[in-house]
Amino acid sequence: MTDQTPAPYSGPTRMLSGVQPSGALHLGNYLGAIVKFVKLQEEMPCFLFVADLHAITVWQDPAELAKQTREIAAAYLASGLDPKKAAIFPQSAVRAHAELAWILNCVARLGWLDRMTQFKEKSGKHKERASVGLYTYPVLQAADILAYKATHVPVGEDQKQHLELTRDIAAKFNNDFGAQGFFPLPEPLIQGPGARVMSLRDGTAKMSKSDPSDQSRINLLDDADTILQKVKRARTDPEPLPETVEGLTGRAEADNLVGIYAALAGITKAEVIAQFGGQGFGSFKPALGELVAERFAPVASEMRRLMGDPAEVDRVLKDGAERAAAVAEKTLAETKELVGFWPGRG
Ligand code: AMP
Ligand code: TRP
Repeated sequence: MTDQTPAPYSGPTRMLSGVQPSGALHLGNYLGAIVKFVKLQEEMPCFLFVADLHAITVWQDPAELAKQTREIAAAYLASGLDPKKAAIFPQSAVRAHAELAWILNCVARLGWLDRMTQFKEKSGKHKERASVGLYTYPVLQAADILAYKATHVPVGEDQKQHLELTRDIAAKFNNDFGAQGFFPLPEPLIQGPGARVMSLRDGTAKMSKSDPSDQSRINLLDDADTILQKVKRARTDPEPLPETVEGLTGRAEADNLVGIYAALAGITKAEVIAQFGGQGFGSFKPALGELVAERFAPVASEMRRLMGDPAEVDRVLKDGAERAAAVAEKTLAETKELVGFWPGRG
């Protein structure tokens, strides 16, 4: 061994991300993830999948799973992703994800996984009853990313720890197999006011597909009236909006609504405060509701059209899977060679 600093990754930049087909898409997914995908597709090759392998780490009704997979793909397309620029595919359609995950399971350390907070949250009080898949979920996520040697990974803030783990796994693999620079250490792209959208019912909990209260989230397919009602009923404190951004500190619900407005309008929270500071929620909430409803209406109507035409969505998914597999298979073959597997099988 030499003590030289490791050779950095010198391959092409590529973006990759995924969304689980485990429930209706909401404003958090839209702002934390999808909006960023649309922007990045102009800058580099993109791989965007529907994370069905991840979804089954908790029980999914098989009939619903296929439907939801097409629904996520429809949401990608309706939000402005161009299937010529981005390969859009179901994770399970590219075998290399699962195969690479096995190899990376043997690289990742138990101690690393024991620290994952999402597992602790999702497994709850009875962790012995959680699936083994839920435990190794972050290793599969590392395989998703590294199979494409992705350098850029746009995600919401809740995925930060999984991205750090991916970097650790990539660095350990490169080191263990004397292959410095083989896997890139991917950059998480998290910043922005939409990186952590909170529940409308509780400013300390993130907006989530699995929250039992539908009032806690705004779904991409909600109609304008529902959106306006949900925003109107969103929990807030009785004070008017502060005159400065600093005044949002300690006011989680107000901060969340201002952050949503900023993310959707493409401005900073300070600019929102400059416009609405000192006003009560009675005037801010309808403005926010309108903004969300206006943005979602065309996306929802295109999503509905696509969901009525599954053949069109399936063509996109099939073509995306073929393009993705070509890249991922190559990485998998190189990885197997580095590990020392018998080179015979194609
Ligand atoms: P999931 O629905 O868990 O598959 O999440 C898909 C993407 O949406 C990931 O990049 C998440 O980080 C992001 N995301 C999920 N919930 C939120 C939220 N409340 N705020 C911001 N981003 C989110
Ligand atoms: N775990 C991510 C989530 O729940 C989804 C996901 C799976 C993902 N594989 C990924 C995101 C790879 C980015 C990169 O939000």
